[in-house]
Amino acid sequence: MLEPRFVGAGFLWLLAWSIWAPMAESAIGVNWGTVSFHKLKPSTVVDLLKENKIPKVKLFEAEPDVLRALVGSGIQIMVGIPNDMLSLLGSSPSAADLWLRQNVSAYMGKGGADIRYIAVGNEPFLTSYNGQYQNLVMPAILNLQQSLVKANLAGYVKLVVPCNADAYESALPSQGAFRPELTQIITQLVQFLNSNGSPFVVNIYPFLSLYDNGDFPQDYAFFEGTTHPVTDGTNVYTNAFDGNYDTLVAALNKLGYGQMPIVIGEIGWPSDGAIGANVTAARVFNQGLIDHIMGNKGTPLRPNAPPMDVYIFGLLDEGAKSTLPGNFERHWGIFSFDGQAKYQLNLRLGNKELRNAKNVQYLPSRWCVANPSTDLTNVANHMRIACSVADCTTLNYGGSCNGIGEKGNISYAFNSYYQLQMQDSRSCDFDGLGMITFLDPSVGDCRFLVGVTDKSSHSSSSHTTYHWYSLVLFFILQGMFYFSM
Ligand SMILES: *[C@@H]1O[C@H](CO)[C@@H](O)[C@H](O)[C@H]1NC(C)=O
Ligand SMILES: *[C@@H]1O[C@H](CO)[C@@H](O)[C@H](O)[C@H]1NC(C)=O
Ligand SMILES: *[C@@H]1O[C@H](CO)[C@@H](O)[C@H](O)[C@H]1NC(C)=O
Repeated sequence: MLEPRFVGAGFLWLLAWSIWAPMAESAIGVNWGTVSFHKLKPSTVVDLLKENKIPKVKLFEAEPDVLRALVGSGIQIMVGIPNDMLSLLGSSPSAADLWLRQNVSAYMGKGGADIRYIAVGNEPFLTSYNGQYQNLVMPAILNLQQSLVKANLAGYVKLVVPCNADAYESALPSQGAFRPELTQIITQLVQFLNSNGSPFVVNIYPFLSLYDNGDFPQDYAFFEGTTHPVTDGTNVYTNAFDGNYDTLVAALNKLGYGQMPIVIGEIGWPSDGAIGANVTAARVFNQGLIDHIMGNKGTPLRPNAPPMDVYIFGLLDEGAKSTLPGNFERHWGIFSFDGQAKYQLNLRLGNKELRNAKNVQYLPSRWCVANPSTDLTNVANHMRIACSVADCTTLNYGGSCNGIGEKGNISYAFNSYYQLQMQDSRSCDFDGLGMITFLDPSVGDCRFLVGVTDKSSHSSSSHTTYHWYSLVLFFILQGMFYFSM
């Protein structure tokens, strides 16, 4: 399947990389996640990437419509394999062959999609998984590597494993070490990566350090100097990113791979849904990060050698993500769900500021709000149901819609639900408590959304089913509520 062009390019790329790696400039990429109720057309998103001159994208799954849209774009791709596929791919070489054929080879070739990395699992060593994926990683890697060799792609497409920064720990960066129970598996992994010329991929989140730990000095999370520097021998750390990065460098060094190239698979700051998650902080963090990386200063343990690539998390807000980590989880995008820039950001990729998505197809400009002339005392149940399906995270403490009052809350919930149901008029009934309006009810920073339509979507059937079920559930619950009155 492989075009000779790719063998050549891969070889040249490797050669260039090995010669220039020590002084190479980092490349900035983005994570494109698609866990959204209001998905943009993949082609709209690819245009957004191109318009912003973003050269690299990381995907969490091999979604056919996304990969198809990236064909011919020239954008380099890291495509992910979900953790729940590791078991199959590790136990069956033919499943690995098939995965590769269907999800990689099919899109490559001359003028195809430029897939450079396959991320085998996503943070499979995360502490909260209690080791359930740990031993599935290497078998999957070894099978997939064989599949790559058979497909004649092994010189061009590299296997990596994005790890959460919780894979290593230490009070001081220079003492960094992988968690004891991971030592053996990480040793095998880095041996494989090293023999294959692949980088170590790590996700680093200073926001979560701040969110999880009230004692964490706030200014240490950013890049503008701190009143609480960390002194480690002769090295002084003024930001959490450098400290964390060097902890990894030290941990790799302990295994004998202190020179292994590092890629930042995810890093970013959410703009809503928690105290400390706001547009200003997100802009300051992301701009500070980009300037820091592009300044090529590196870190105390790797001076003048910044990470190879840095993938910002994320490109777009994903309003259907689980809020288990916190309400901020749906607000990591540098763009809102509809591809509009949330704040000024210079990605240093050629444009001075972000450019918005073009030709976004919105539903009509109408909203569902609480009917002002109705008694709203019995509305709590409706609101709960609406918010259990649609996204109401901005209403909570620390969110951009937290101060809009009781009636505002109700309207916000009604509208989120109504837009989720693609403005189906029945979904704005709420026993006569809802009302459709043509006046934008947004107040200040609190935006009442209008949904988008993704007419080209090929994966909408599961969504439709979901809508259908939630509507039935909604009417059943509504009926119960009605009869219990
Ligand atoms: C290709 O990837 C998709 C998305 O992760 C997955 O659903 C599908 O099963 C994969 N194909 C094969 C043959 O494994
Ligand atoms: C935004 O977040 C930052 C940093 O987390 C915090 O210091 C600041 O007070 C927040 N701003 C607002 C307006 O909430
Ligand atoms: C609006 O809803 C949020 C989230 O449930 C709550 O914290 C807030 O107190 C509500 N506001 C009013 C005025 O009821």
